[in-house]
Amino acid sequence: MSRLAFILNGPNLNLLGKRQPHIYGHETLADVEKDCRALAKELKVDLRFHQSNREYEIIDWVHEAREIAGGIVINPAAFTHTSVAILDALNTFEGPVIEVHISNVHKREEFRHHSFVSGRADGVIAGFGTQGYQLALRRVARLMVEKKA
Ligand code: DQA
Repeated sequence: MSRLAFILNGPNLNLLGKRQPHIYGHETLADVEKDCRALAKELKVDLRFHQSNREYEIIDWVHEAREIAGGIVINPAAFTHTSVAILDALNTFEGPVIEVHISNVHKREEFRHHSFVSGRADGVIAGFGTQGYQLALRRVARLMVEKKA
């Protein structure tokens, strides 16, 4: 199996650092990408890091991951709570999938408590701030090795 992981980010995460910093913190998505790239190097994992405000682009990246990647880390942002289409796409992917939320969605409004993506995810990380991405990447890297064995 490929040692390539995709990290996918949904809508409004391009504004990370500026958007509701009391909830999502001050780090930007570029900071998150930089930290993930440093960790990926350490883990000897290749990385593709993407963000989009468009549902179809996230679906297209999952389809691309089907062909070339061993694992996916995804923060679907608001699409978490609405998108059967992203769930369906992830269900076509055979490798490990870890869902990340920067905030603890269970502590927030009730509409954030349900995730379509959790029905497919092998693990869910919520409320660890942007550090959650690195934890998720570590887990995906481990699962990619285990599934290979
Ligand atoms: C989020 C939580 C979602 O409910 C929200 O719509 C987001 C970000 C998080 O990372 O905490 O945009 O996924």
